[in-house]
Amino acid sequence: MQKPQVGLVGLGTMGAALALNIAEKGFPIAVWNRTTSVTHDFHAGAGDLAARIVPTDTLQALVAAMAGPRSIILMVPAGQPVDDQLAALAPLLQPEDLVIDAGNANFHDTNRRAAAGLPFGFMGIGVSGGEEGARHGPAIMAGGLPIHWQRMRKVFQAIAARAEDGTPCADHMGEGGAGHFVKAVHNGIEYADMQMIAEVYGVMRDGLGMSAAEIAPVFARWNEGVLRSYLVEISAAVAGAADPVKGGPLLDMIVDAAGQKGTGRWTAIEAQNLGTPIPVIEAAVMARNVSSRRGERAAGEALYGPGPERVEVALDDLEQALIAGKILCYAQGFAMMTAAAGEFGWALDMPRVARVWRAGCIIRSAMLNDMAEALAEDPGRNLMLAPFFADHLRRTLPALRRVVAAGALHGLGLPALSAGLAWFDLMRTARGTANMIQGQRDFFGLHGFQRIDGLDQPHGPWAKG
Ligand code: 6PG
Repeated sequence: MQKPQVGLVGLGTMGAALALNIAEKGFPIAVWNRTTSVTHDFHAGAGDLAARIVPTDTLQALVAAMAGPRSIILMVPAGQPVDDQLAALAPLLQPEDLVIDAGNANFHDTNRRAAAGLPFGFMGIGVSGGEEGARHGPAIMAGGLPIHWQRMRKVFQAIAARAEDGTPCADHMGEGGAGHFVKAVHNGIEYADMQMIAEVYGVMRDGLGMSAAEIAPVFARWNEGVLRSYLVEISAAVAGAADPVKGGPLLDMIVDAAGQKGTGRWTAIEAQNLGTPIPVIEAAVMARNVSSRRGERAAGEALYGPGPERVEVALDDLEQALIAGKILCYAQGFAMMTAAAGEFGWALDMPRVARVWRAGCIIRSAMLNDMAEALAEDPGRNLMLAPFFADHLRRTLPALRRVVAAGALHGLGLPALSAGLAWFDLMRTARGTANMIQGQRDFFGLHGFQRIDGLDQPHGPWAKG
């Protein structure tokens, strides 16, 4: 076997799966893990692929086992461990070598590292799809210099998932932290998609009194239509799963406190920094935070009483509401990326982002094909103004209103769906209410305002002297 030009550091679940995927696609690969036994166990368990994998015991041995120019993928936890690996590799590598951070890095860190003048090339790539994706085809959002993308393109596109039209779901998003930024927005949308599904699940469970076993086929049916997506598909499987310990639905036995590693929160924080509204994603992050406050929620229920016995909502309305919520959420996510591209000087191509998300990643869905087409017509236009999605929204908005209204009247919290609707209503109102805010600002702080007739009036009559 010729010496590998590709290497991988970090054989945790994702790293091991990615290494096997790379070897399977015909690229010899050298691997190293901090714990030597992990490296050898991985190699021993690689079956036929072991012949293309070179296990190494030290970082020096990894570098020595490779031919130049080397491309070393880091699959280590985000944050300090990445900086530590970069520092450890610095004395070992040549300027033409390349190190690729494939973890869930904060894009600000990736920007910083890309600008730090490392003694080798550096890329930051977002990889989505969990273990199964990493092993058999993730979506890859690559960031870095075009020359480095060109070098890695063959590998990334070989290992990536393929959309239904055969296009690999791996592409170059832009320089520096662009790939990790797109991955962060992906995760924000992931949080929002999951939250909206959880909200309609809640209406079915608490409002309509349906059992998990009754809810499962509803999700499965929705997965045959406009909502066809990985997350709706797995929601059907989760709702339908039996508890192997006690029988009955497993879903009813799972504690209602959501974990999070922070990527959704980064997206919400960044949206605030950019001044671009993503209320559906922000609501989803908020709801995860509330979910973990179990004691306070129990105290709240003890004080104010439980929610409603029953709510009148049609299942069709829930499906339509989910469609509307999803469109609104993606419209916000793409608008945020457009704002970020301007702010950070990235040539982010919105249709390309939508196409990369069509397969392999957690938010993959049938709707992304239509989004890619609508964005290709006019990449800068908000998705809610694209004729195709405007048609969808006109059809589904009445149901979203009925669902949100039912939730509000009966005390079922639907933060993400409500936030989507409120944003939509603000975005379709030419004459808003911020004239009152401008009047208040001028009253207490003489901040000034503009008149709608264009006449010059620096301040209102409340200004003294
Ligand atoms: C993916 C996911 C993945 C993420 C998990 C858990 O695209 O494969 O986004 O990167 O780490 O979904 O995220 P939370 O722990 O924040 O829910």
